[in-house]
Amino acid sequence: MPTGRRSRLHKVFVTRDLPGDGLRRLRDEAGVDLWPGGMPPPRAALLEGVRDADGLLCLLTDTVDAALLDHAQRLRVVSTMAAGYDNIDVGAATAHNVLVTNTPGVLTETTADLTFALLLAAARRLPESERAIRDGRWTTWSPAFLLGRDIHGATLGIVGLGEIGQAVARRARGFGMRILYTSRTPKPEVERKLGCSPVTFDELLAQSDFVTVHVPLTPQTRHMFDAKAFDRMKQTAIFVNTSRGAVVVEADLQRALASESIAAAAIDVAETEPVAKDDPLLRLSNLLVTPHIGSASVATRARMADMAVDNLLAALDGRQPPNCVNPQVWAARPMSSDGSTA
Ligand code: DGY
Repeated sequence: MPTGRRSRLHKVFVTRDLPGDGLRRLRDEAGVDLWPGGMPPPRAALLEGVRDADGLLCLLTDTVDAALLDHAQRLRVVSTMAAGYDNIDVGAATAHNVLVTNTPGVLTETTADLTFALLLAAARRLPESERAIRDGRWTTWSPAFLLGRDIHGATLGIVGLGEIGQAVARRARGFGMRILYTSRTPKPEVERKLGCSPVTFDELLAQSDFVTVHVPLTPQTRHMFDAKAFDRMKQTAIFVNTSRGAVVVEADLQRALASESIAAAAIDVAETEPVAKDDPLLRLSNLLVTPHIGSASVATRARMADMAVDNLLAALDGRQPPNCVNPQVWAARPMSSDGSTA
């Protein structure tokens, strides 16, 4: 198989150590330059890393833009270890004939699990309950102490019924919830299977007890949850976001929570990550926040790393990467006279 010999000559820049044995497999096949430590490479180091690299294996913390692609003359593939790829300028990559790959699917159930954990925790006020005990405020059983919201029988509004939205809907069915959704495209089959009803965005906001977001970050979805959206929600509503922070105008969320125009929010993502210790959001007792751990299970992160390595190696070996987000680059690749890829 030409794979090993050909790709051994390839140089790959990897922006962080990876879980599982993906990195070992990569080292067997290519020259790996691994950025050390637990923090993302600073911009200058990232530029230096890709300067003569054939492949880049990056994370959602690394910005891949036109300037980087201009700088990386040999680069053929950017493989991100994430489903979302809003950190990558895919248009610019396509213009540079650089394949972009991601890791969809493997993290669907794990992210839906966290979404539901956040929903349950916010509804039943688990963080406040935990704090109450630690602060010595559990003095007796009391009829009105830490009352939360029921999940069973409540209405869940799912914004974005893709793979993760559907996985959340499956869990919601088990909890006896009524499910509304909005989606770019109608999904009649999914509706039938999961018992979800399509509504407009405004109807979803007005009718839902819980609103959960599962859209990719695009120019259309950026800041879609603004003051107007929060105003339309019930005063008892709980907002959950495990997608991308920038779908929310955080100052508007903060105002909605502070004024209790919605009851609570549980977010795993923020527009600027990590959230600063003195961010006003963190002063709100009706906000539960976790550090972007939607896909953070041992098994899922190992699968994501494996998939990112598989995508990268396929591209370097001239095989079609299994998860390519700009397949037009693959379709337009030059062919050698024997029909194989250059
Ligand atoms: C993704 O994959 O896009 C998540 O945000 C991180 O797993």
